[in-house]
Amino acid sequence: MAKKKGAGTIVIKVALWYMFILGAFAGYTNWLPQIRGDAPEAAEAINLDEVTPDQLSTMGEKIIFGSNDPLGVLAKGEGPIGKGQCPLCHRFFLEQKADRCPNLLALPEMEPPLLKISEEARSHERVKGRYEEFKKLHANGEKNSGIVPHATTGGEYLIESEYCPNCFVVVGFGLKGTNDTVSPMPIINKPPIELADTEIVAVVSFLQLRDGDESKWTAKDSWESYFGKELAAPAEGEGEEEEEKPKGPPVALGSMTVDEIVKEMTCFACHKIPGVAIAKTGMIGPLLIEKTNAPNRIKSPEYKKAVKEGKAHATTPREYVIESIMDPGAFIVPGFADDMLKDFRHKFTVSGLDVMVDYLLNQDVASAVAEGMDRLPNEKEGSILPPPEASLGEVKSGDLS
Ligand code: HEC
Ligand code: HEC
Repeated sequence: MAKKKGAGTIVIKVALWYMFILGAFAGYTNWLPQIRGDAPEAAEAINLDEVTPDQLSTMGEKIIFGSNDPLGVLAKGEGPIGKGQCPLCHRFFLEQKADRCPNLLALPEMEPPLLKISEEARSHERVKGRYEEFKKLHANGEKNSGIVPHATTGGEYLIESEYCPNCFVVVGFGLKGTNDTVSPMPIINKPPIELADTEIVAVVSFLQLRDGDESKWTAKDSWESYFGKELAAPAEGEGEEEEEKPKGPPVALGSMTVDEIVKEMTCFACHKIPGVAIAKTGMIGPLLIEKTNAPNRIKSPEYKKAVKEGKAHATTPREYVIESIMDPGAFIVPGFADDMLKDFRHKFTVSGLDVMVDYLLNQDVASAVAEGMDRLPNEKEGSILPPPEASLGEVKSGDLS
């Protein structure tokens, strides 16, 4: 009986917590998700011989933002994020706050102190100087893509950036602790984002067209010179899957599985989560093993400081995880930046949040290790994987001294 009473108290506490979070930060009207029943848009059929840079760019815009009116979507307070996921990390408009990655602003929007050069011209600069070091580093092929860095023009550099982010890592934007040799950007033609070649060409066309200089609309030619072959039209059905179901703003509901929520809410682009097939590569945020992390976070001096300052309020692991999702700025995990999206409180229903939080609170070091998943180099807790046999042997032999 005592147990039952305890559970009741917890339920009330949790309910109060939700009311606090949702009420304080969003307001009920904003929070209640509105599902639009838009008719599905047909995938654009393209004939590669006749397609104009303008048409490609329009396609690219849709892939990047999920809309051909990204500023309109932004004005409604929603994140304009399409299947390419780029705006999760990159800033395309001054109106957008994200700045965790190199900005991809259009030239007319640039303002000091931002560099006043076009996307194309900047990319052209990239393939000089420091690029040589990456050529040497990956002389036998970069390990995830097999590509040897070989871009010679700005257009080729933009193409290469999508297929092999590690082929050149912008100074200051590499994974912390890797001396700017490892990029946290996902490989765009591989799962989970997995754009088709033509879609990548469309995305690059969009980036180039925004700069306004017609002589630089090279995406398709750049793709062909970079890969040394003709760009093939997408196979039947390729890259169209996303368009088939009606799309409103994404919402996490209690009836969804964890995998569905992680996909819809784009957590996978930034986090690794044990047991979630789509979330194996994220490198912007911590490994989500909250059974291990959450209790330690609350006890940490950094968290206590945030509580003192009136920013953070969690007293249990469950509250910590809810707070992390609903109010990510309350506490910034040491080693990371305040890079998590801020609008999840508009996108989760209470039961959807329960599904996500329950799952994360069941993941620990053991569940990560079982899948060979490690913490990132910038997580202060350090690696959780046992060192490989070989290097253990080396250290033991003592011939390093
Ligand atoms: C999860 C975050 C993330 C996503 C999603 C992402 N990127 Fe990136 N991107 C980065 C980071 C971090 C860098 C800087 C490190 C590097 O050079 O690879 C970068 C670098 C780049 C660069 C090189 C910029 C420069 O200044 O040289 C380009 C171009 C680029 N991204 C385009 C894209 C496009 C197009 C998409 C969507 C199809 C995309 N990115 C999706 C994180 C991301
Ligand atoms: C654009 C990248 C990005 C996306 C998308 C994102 N996160 Fe995060 N997340 C971060 C970063 C960076 C941190 C660490 C900084 C901080 O504490 O806010 C973080 C921190 C967290 C933490 C705290 C982890 C810990 O161990 O203390 C949780 C929990 C979390 N995220 C859950 C989620 C969930 C669930 C989703 C999807 C609904 C999600 N995140 C989507 C970037 C992201």
